[in-house]
Formats: sequence, C-alpha cells, structure tokens
Amino acid sequence: MLANLVYLSIRKKACTEDDIAQILAKAEQNNSKEGITGVLLYSATRFVQYLEGEFQQIDGLYSKIKRDPRHERVTLLHTGLIQQRYFPS
Ligand SMILES: Cc1cc2nc3c(=O)[nH]c(=O)nc-3n(C[C@H](O)[C@H](O)[C@H](O)COP(=O)(O)O)c2cc1C
Repeated sequence: MLANLVYLSIRKKACTEDDIAQILAKAEQNNSKEGITGVLLYSATRFVQYLEGEFQQIDGLYSKIKRDPRHERVTLLHTGLIQQRYFPS
C-alpha cells in the first residue's frame, strides 16, 4: 500500500544549519533503506516535508519526526494512498 504524507512545522530558533545538514544526512541514510522518497523544504522558520513510500514505513517515520526537538507544532496537511510515486528518487 503506497502512501504519501505532507506536514508543516515550525523550525525552532535553536535549529542551526548544521542541524539541517544532519537531518538531511539521516534522511538520505534511513529513507533509502526504508524505501521512502520525498522532498524537504525549509526556511529560517518553517519546514514542509513530503514523504512517500509503504504506509507502515511512512507512519513509523512520521511518528519519529513528530517527536524531534528541532521543530514544533508539527501539523499534518495531507495523507492518503497513491498509485505511483511522484518523487521516485
Ligand atoms: C524537519 C525534519 C525532517 C526530518 N526528516 C527525516 C527523514 O526524512 N528521515 C529520517 O530518517 N529522519 C528525519 N528526521 C530526523 C528524525 O526526526 C529522527 O531524528 C531520525 O529519523 C532518527 O534516526 P535514527 O532512528 O536512525 O536515530 C527529520 C527531522 C526533522 C526535524
């Protein structure tokens, strides 16, 4: 069951560019293992992430991300089932 998920969150002031580099490195390492693809957009104050993969993997990752102290007010914007990936790589 292929699913996607989009959330918006508030980047904490304490979340530095080094933190972002660590998040991206972790995402690259873990997501490829879990068959998860997507996009992470960020600004000085916000994150928006689009994730797609098997429902169980997406659900598990979102549970971890929600608890991450580098952001807050994580708001689910959309989740659902999809027929094909929009960001396969
Ligand atoms: C905005 C944001 C996006 C994140 N995206 C991912 C992600 O796509 N994949 C991932 O594994 N971790 C991501 N993380 C990090 C997770 O919250 C968590 O720290 C990490 O998955 C823990 O990995 P570990 O279980 O291998 O230690 C993100 C964190 C933040 C704050």
